[in-house]
Amino acid sequence: MKVDVLLGLQWGDEGKGKIVDVLTRKYDIIARFQGGPNAGHTLEFDGIKHVLHTIPSGIFHPGTKNLIGNGVVIDPVIFCKEIADLKVHNVNVKEALLISRKAHLILPTHRILDAASEAAKGKNKIGSTLKGIGPTYMDKTGRNGLRVGDIELEDFKERYESLKAKHEQLLSHYEFDYKEQLAELEPAWFEAVEIMRELTLIDSEHYLHTALADGKKVLAEGAQGSLLDIDFGSYPFVTSSTTTCAGSCTGLGIAPNRIERVFGIFKAYCTRVGSGPFPTELFDEDGAYLQEKGHEFGATTGRPRRCGWLDIPALKYAVSINGVTNLIMMKADVMSGFDTIKVCTKYRYKSEEIEHLPYSIDESLIEPVYEEIPGWKDDLTGLDNLEDAPQALKDYLAYVEEKIGVPISILSVGPNRTQTIELEKLSL
Ligand code: IMP
Repeated sequence: MKVDVLLGLQWGDEGKGKIVDVLTRKYDIIARFQGGPNAGHTLEFDGIKHVLHTIPSGIFHPGTKNLIGNGVVIDPVIFCKEIADLKVHNVNVKEALLISRKAHLILPTHRILDAASEAAKGKNKIGSTLKGIGPTYMDKTGRNGLRVGDIELEDFKERYESLKAKHEQLLSHYEFDYKEQLAELEPAWFEAVEIMRELTLIDSEHYLHTALADGKKVLAEGAQGSLLDIDFGSYPFVTSSTTTCAGSCTGLGIAPNRIERVFGIFKAYCTRVGSGPFPTELFDEDGAYLQEKGHEFGATTGRPRRCGWLDIPALKYAVSINGVTNLIMMKADVMSGFDTIKVCTKYRYKSEEIEHLPYSIDESLIEPVYEEIPGWKDDLTGLDNLEDAPQALKDYLAYVEEKIGVPISILSVGPNRTQTIELEKLSL
């Protein structure tokens, strides 16, 4: 059996949670491969909105196994809060949720270091979610980190103290008052670690290999988006993990030749939360319209998301890096209301027109070149098949497919599970 991968093609917040939830019934295992509680995956059904940060989005389907892979970083406190919320909805977490022993732990001092580092950056700050993601991945690659499997060891507390001491040394270089915050965070952290000890901790790469050999179907769930990838995103305004398809191999221990489909999710427009370049950003009433109509506020931090038109060179770049086989367009309903819509098809870069993403996409260097196409005004939220869609939307879909060269397989017209249209039979 092969693994399918589902990931975001823009700057995150494309709607991965909703689509994983919709596709879950076709898979036996949903496996999250990177990131941490900087993510906020929103799912809506039966009139209730759920936001998941660490837990895979298949968790609400009875019978599906949900794996947190080795590439993920876990804050025990946030994680256990998520678990408590799930128990209210009668999810059998012990059975449905599996955690890789090789996933890394976010310590309270990682969060504090994140805040200290951002504060020291001043106007160059990344706009981090301040969940401790960067410092935790730094300790992972620096070979200092604590892993989930370490909580089963007798000397766990000593390991914790030793890493905390390193962090305190680092913190002494920042003028950052943290002692009180640390004293507040630590007891809850250790309580949460106790709860984690009762969960199902596994050697997840072996589990996945056996599952695949037994014919089980796996969907690898990404977090954030390709333009936030540590290597290929708009560095340094990125997150600290591999958000692209390669991250599913390193974050789960599966080989590249195991991957079959790569579902790439994008919004019918663009958003970005936090700092960093955003070539098609809108500062006018069109941007305000998208932000308000699309409820574009971060699921993790509540921060307003910056909004802009669809950026084809950036989308093409993400599609190539990931080897996307199927596109999924989200929030087409939010785009209703424009006489015409703009699509960035090229950039003007150093007095030349280019169609690729250059080394730097800083606004001072590149300017988007737009094509303007007809918009639509119909309310799409009740649409359940493409035939009934306005012609301008059909044309928009065809236009994007033609520019990118990959079919759009699913169209989303609202936040609910039911507001999802399969444009081609996926036979998963
Ligand atoms: P960090 O990963 O929290 O350090 O944040 C680094 C950058 O990635 C910031 O610009 C964040 O706003 C952005 N970011 C991190 N996670 C997400 C996400 O799940 N959705 C959108 N942006 C994110």
